Amino acid sequence: MKVSRCVLFGAAVAVVHSRPAVKRAINDATILNYALTLEHLEATFYQQGLQNYTHEDFLNAGFPDPFYSNLEQVASDEQNHVEFLTGALTGM
Ligand SMILES: *[C@@H]1O[C@H](CO)[C@@H](O)[C@H](O)[C@H]1NC(C)=O
Repeated sequence: MKVSRCVLFGAAVAVVHSRPAVKRAINDATILNYALTLEHLEATFYQQGLQNYTHEDFLNAGFPDPFYSNLEQVASDEQNHVEFLTGALTGM
């Protein structure tokens, strides 16, 4: 997930920098809002996944025991990213 996020961000930066003649309306708030949108998607995905499936569902599907608690940690991290970026934008 982190690699794909870096790839997306890199692609966005490449697109922005490949158009030097276009007046750039991209600023810190635009970038933070973009990142916030991605973090909302990720946080919602993990939150829904944990609501839709139990620990037992993951064990029955063949995932090792720490997998579910790792997902809970990732879900918490993603929510923290949403709150961090929301705070950064609010402080601007
Ligand atoms: C969770 O279930 C809802 C309702 O069926 C579905 O719309 C959503 O895509 C599911 N999300 C995940 C991550 O499983």
